[in-house]
This record gives sequence, structure tokens and C-alpha cells, in this order.
Amino acid sequence: MSTAATQIIGVASGKGGVGKTTVSINLAVKLASLGKKVMIFDADLGLANAQLALGIRAPFNFSHVLSGEKTLSEVIIEGPSGVKLVPGASGIQRMAALGPQETAGIIQVFSELEDELDYLIVDVAAGLSDSVMAFMSACQYRVVVLKNEPYSIADAYSTIKVMMQEYNLDRIYLVPNGVESQREGQRLYTSINTVVQNFLNGQVKYLHSISADSMVVQAMKASQPLVSYSPASLAARDFGDLAKRIMQLEPDVPLNGNIQFFVERVAAQLAAKVS
Ligand SMILES: Nc1ncnc2c1ncn2[C@@H]1O[C@H](COP(=O)(O)OP(=O)(O)O)[C@@H](O)[C@H]1O
Ligand SMILES: [Mg+2]
Repeated sequence: MSTAATQIIGVASGKGGVGKTTVSINLAVKLASLGKKVMIFDADLGLANAQLALGIRAPFNFSHVLSGEKTLSEVIIEGPSGVKLVPGASGIQRMAALGPQETAGIIQVFSELEDELDYLIVDVAAGLSDSVMAFMSACQYRVVVLKNEPYSIADAYSTIKVMMQEYNLDRIYLVPNGVESQREGQRLYTSINTVVQNFLNGQVKYLHSISADSMVVQAMKASQPLVSYSPASLAARDFGDLAKRIMQLEPDVPLNGNIQFFVERVAAQLAAKVS
């Protein structure tokens, strides 16, 4: 049983297809295999969504919670290593229109999860939409996944800029993906952090880089997380190191609660944007 409050980690990228879902699910399964209680909230509507990557099929998803057809506990399913998943959430903008009673119901279930979960990992959609930012605002840690490619770097920087300047967010961590060496990832981090320091008057932090590894694609084809499919592979070992880095982070306890008010924070942020 966990002692600290649930730590919520938002995973964004700006551009799609750079490995957000791959990082989210492998980090989740790795943390779970290290004894942590983990849930993934799939707020990404991309094709290779978390369900497929985890190799599980969910009959219901978060949209059924939003429409009132199901409760949150009815849509949560369990995947490899006991990782829980709140499946794909189409129509996430509807969270802005949640009534107090519906919000209260969701908050109730999340607050029951507080004691059961060490980490909630939120795989957000690509882009810089209000809902992406609402989720990132509601998290304690913000992970930006990026590749060492011009478009991915530009989009990661835009994401960082919006999070810092428009939403006043800190605790932003970079995870370079698809690198040839840890050194390449560290260099990429340093160059971005220099620009962030010079132009945004802030800083981003570094976690760990994930190697380019053909086993990632094979695991995806086999509908299994890489860390279970091929634990000895280069990228799986990187995910192990990433998970350990995450476990070293100082836990953060925001004033308005961790997980129980997560949905309320997202909904409030969205409502503020709508009005
Ligand atoms: N480190 C990696 N090495 C090789 N292929 C990768 C790596 N990370 C992701 N991929 C592949 O890139 C594609 C996009 O990854 P995905 O996690 O679905 O991106 P996103 O969620 O950002 O859209 C997938 O086919 C995935 O298997
Ligand atoms: Mg994805």
C-alpha cells in the first residue's frame, strides 16, 4: 500500500507519432513491475492507442463515463503487470460541461484510488489544444517526449512555451525518444534547455532518453509492451532507467489534492477556456 499521495504524470509531445504512447505504457508497465501501483489515463485518440499497445480490449471507455452510461470503476480495466487503464476518451471536451453531481461521482472514484495508486500516467493527445493543456495543468509532472528531428523539436518547444507562458507550469521534463545514444539525447536536452533559458526565462529538466530500437515496433505488432515482450532489448533497458529516474523524483503534493480532484481540475480548466 502506498504511503505518499498519487503522483500524476502527463505525457505530451506536441507532434504525434514521436512515441508518447510507447513511453506512457512502457513506463507504466515498468513501474508496475518494480512494485508500484500504476494507472494509465488514455486521453490520446491516436491510432496506436494505449489499449492496443497494452494488448487489451476494453468494452467501454471514458466517454461512457462522460455520457453517464458507466461509472469510472466500470470502465477501468487491468493490463500487464496489473497496470490499470482508463481507456480512450473521445469527446474529452465534454468534461467542461460535467455537472457538479457527475464530477462528484468521478472524484469519489478517483479519491478511492488515492490509496491504491502510486502513479497515474496521462497519455494526452497530440497538439496544443485546450484539453491537452487542461490535462497537463492538472498533473504534477509534465513529460515532453520528442525526437531529434526538426519538426518534433519545434513542436516540443511550442508545447513547453505554451505550458510555461500561458499556463505558468513548471516541473517539465524531457524524454528524447528514438536516439542513437544517451549522449545524443542529453545534447538534445541541453540545446533545448538553453533556448528555454534564453527565451522563456525558465528551465526544463532531463529524465532519460529512449534508444531507437526495432524491437519497439515488433512489440507493438505483437500487441505487447516492449518491457514485457523483450525485457533485454536496448529500449526496454532505457525504460527501466527512466522508471528509476521517475521513482527518484521528489513527490509533489498540490494544495488542491492529487488524484481526487484531478478530473475537477481538468474540467475547471476547460470551463475557464470555454467561457
Ligand atoms: N524508441 C523507438 N524505437 C523505434 N520505434 C519507435 C520508438 N518509439 C516509438 N516507436 C514507433 O513509432 C510509432 C509511433 O509511436 P507512438 O508511441 O504510437 O507515438 P505517439 O503516441 O506519440 O503518436 C510506433 O510505430 C512505435 O512503435
Ligand atoms: Mg499515441
